Amino acid sequence: MNPTESPRLTVIGTGYLGATHAICMAVLGFEVLGVDVDQRKVDRLASGEVPFFEPGLPELLTKALESGRLRFTTSFEEAGEFGDVHFLCVGTPQQPGSDAADLTYVDAAVRALAPNLTRRALVVGKSTVPVGTAQRITGVLHDLAPAGEDVELAWNPEFLREGFAVDDTMRPDRLVFGVASDWALERLEAAFRPILDLGTPVVRTDLATAELVKVAANSFLATKISYINAMAEVCEAVGADIKHLADSLALDDRIGGKFLKPGLGFGGGCLPKDIRAFAHRAEELGVGQAVSFLREVDDINRRRRARTVDLVREMLGGISGKRIAAWGAAFKPNSDDIRDAPALDVARTMHGLGGHVRVFDPAALDNARRAFPELRYGDSALDVAQDADVVVLLTEWSDFKEIDPEALAQVVRHKRIVDGRHALDADRWRAAGWEYRALGRS
Ligand code: UDX
Repeated sequence: MNPTESPRLTVIGTGYLGATHAICMAVLGFEVLGVDVDQRKVDRLASGEVPFFEPGLPELLTKALESGRLRFTTSFEEAGEFGDVHFLCVGTPQQPGSDAADLTYVDAAVRALAPNLTRRALVVGKSTVPVGTAQRITGVLHDLAPAGEDVELAWNPEFLREGFAVDDTMRPDRLVFGVASDWALERLEAAFRPILDLGTPVVRTDLATAELVKVAANSFLATKISYINAMAEVCEAVGADIKHLADSLALDDRIGGKFLKPGLGFGGGCLPKDIRAFAHRAEELGVGQAVSFLREVDDINRRRRARTVDLVREMLGGISGKRIAAWGAAFKPNSDDIRDAPALDVARTMHGLGGHVRVFDPAALDNARRAFPELRYGDSALDVAQDADVVVLLTEWSDFKEIDPEALAQVVRHKRIVDGRHALDADRWRAAGWEYRALGRS
């Protein structure tokens, strides 16, 4: 096959990353086969159901299925037969009891695919992996694939944010192509042609750099968040105002306001585990000192959760026996993802301290209920606020931001609110008679 011809794609792993990638690529005109070991996931996707919350994706799945260009399977044999370019999109969670990344799924996917690669093909890693993984996988592919060294590996890190996954996939800020040959580059260019035609910037580099770009980007973002949250700690000590401080820094073009929002800090399936895995890998490589600050970034982030509980305790004069409305469970708005969610961490701690905590989230309630059945849940923001001694905003859904302080005052026992995300207009709430508190604000 001519390397510039439009390739047939497989996408291995149909979680957040893989499902989004498979659907978007089919919508962009490619023939795509989504592959997963989980038959239920495959069945749900094939029947037009996106198994997680992602705005805009269900509509695109319908469109892709209707086009006839998107199918799903559990068969790696079919994948090997079908695909010219195979995207690896499986998860790399944190290992239990360690900071290292768990590469079980990556290794299993490569070992399942390789024996079915009987002709020249490109395997493209998109998963976030410790630097050096691509080099190791290249060896496994060459050993196990019948096509041997005709199978090449490239690395193309994915930067999509949950909640904006479609846009980030269709119109990314940049594409990073880690390749070992011109052929691999041409194949990748063909696989991303419609996105490249939008003028998307491309960085061509080696495999190790491409692996590093992803963890370096996430580490930078995590550091930026923890930086402003560290400033919030200082503000608290001197009675200064972190909101005004952050707004002032954001106006400096060199700093910018993105990822500079103070509050409860970061969570989710990427930032926390990626900075830990990076620090761990750097230590293995003997350059741990270079990124030892990431341990501090993690500690600052964890302290924000404890400090939020302290703020509630200070306000109430103790948590035991108090009625607490917890607004939010997802790690961020527009997501149903509760992995390492700061909101649920805070809710569980307050529950553990004897608080009568009731949680509401517009999208993540089912996931939260399943993971933490010991917590109590309600049907709406106002429902959980019924007779509350305090309302604690933990995830900045617009549903919460739009709530009228006067309306909320009708249902609570005491007009006290802790704004864990600096999402509310403090003046407005105070003017309506509320005691308003937020981290880093006097
Ligand atoms: C992140 C990266 O942004 C993305 O590029 C990568 O591919 C995967 O990891 P995601 O986990 O979806 O994406 O969430 P993101 O929007 O980055 O938010 C991460 C966390 O940081 C959330 O908990 C959010 O609430 C928090 N955050 C973000 C802050 O606390 N303050 C900010 O200013 C920004």
